[in-house]
Amino acid sequence: MEGISRDLFPILDKKTHLNTCSAAALSTRVRQAAIDFINDWDEFAGVSWVMENKWNDQVEAARSNFARIIGAKPENIAYMFGNSTAISSIMSSINFFDGDEIIFNDLDFPSLPTNIMSRSDHGGINYRVVNAKDGLTVTPDDYKELITDKTRMITACEVVSNTGFRINTQEMIELSHDKDLPIFLDTYQSTGTIPMDVKQNDVDFMASGNLKYLLGGFGISFLYVRDDWIEKLRPGSIGWMGVDNPFADLYDKLRTKLHRPNTATKFQYGTPYPNGAYAANAGMKHILEIGIDKIFDHNMRLTQEIIDRAMDLGFELLTPVEKEKRGSIVNIKLDGSIEKVRVMQQEGFILDARAGGVRVSPHFYNNSDDVDRLFDYLG
Ligand SMILES: Cc1ncc(COP(=O)(O)O)c(C=O)c1O
Repeated sequence: MEGISRDLFPILDKKTHLNTCSAAALSTRVRQAAIDFINDWDEFAGVSWVMENKWNDQVEAARSNFARIIGAKPENIAYMFGNSTAISSIMSSINFFDGDEIIFNDLDFPSLPTNIMSRSDHGGINYRVVNAKDGLTVTPDDYKELITDKTRMITACEVVSNTGFRINTQEMIELSHDKDLPIFLDTYQSTGTIPMDVKQNDVDFMASGNLKYLLGGFGISFLYVRDDWIEKLRPGSIGWMGVDNPFADLYDKLRTKLHRPNTATKFQYGTPYPNGAYAANAGMKHILEIGIDKIFDHNMRLTQEIIDRAMDLGFELLTPVEKEKRGSIVNIKLDGSIEKVRVMQQEGFILDARAGGVRVSPHFYNNSDDVDRLFDYLG
């Protein structure tokens, strides 16, 4: 991509990295941030979490950076330890009544269904599953068919990790609001590559993490919660970083009152993960510097190139070809894809076999030479 030095990603000298949807290439800046964390640890281990300190600063900066990327205020962001904890937190916040239903679809990443299904194991709530009739796509109308007066929330991943199918988020939000329901969006596969403005789109809840298109590392995700929900909800599963003054109740021994903040931090669990925050900030800085619109155009161009070349060679795709129905992932159907990918990995590729195909997911640091090399092996 113009203006971006591939030198920032040393792995690209050695490997053809086309697997950002699993984990991004490591940038020199993210590497340095991880080292900075270790050095700081050596300097001031044993910080007081309730006073100002560098580690808290990094976590706060991460909330702010993520907020900027999705058009939110930092007060609407809670740090989480993964998207699973984000859905778990929201599930714990809603007062479900017997027979209430949550809807997800059968293309969603397991973090959504596993959470909802495990909750339903305890009775009280049920779930309904939207089936992808063509095996590849679902529509807001498919959801509409399953909504009843028992439905309490609908959920979906904006982009499906195995195939790159992108749901029509705007229509999903409109549908949920028409039916007076909140929507929980998992945008782990789209944040950093597809523009999102949570305010303009009137999103209720959204979660995303840093490992993929945001270029950070492990162990940290973010939950966005809309203002009115922050005010209304009292999460039933939190930790001591989910209250304003964690030690107040402890010291007065009375424990009569939970000091819930008026920000999304009320959804947080325990001790933050500063290692993740350092790396996350360095990763998100790349995205903020380049701008998501530019990244979106670049990634769409490159994925189009992959689609065109695959189709010219007669491959079937497991990804819809329409631009508005896909993210930065293309899945090329291939018999024996697992064996093929194994061989390609030995030849210096970083990519994956999923759902009966070779899954390819470029980011702004990839270029047409990477695509050429891919088809040298696939063609
Ligand atoms: C769409 C989506 N959601 C969630 C996750 C990961 O969830 P967690 O952060 O709970 O591990 C992934 C990881 O691949 C994903 O693709």
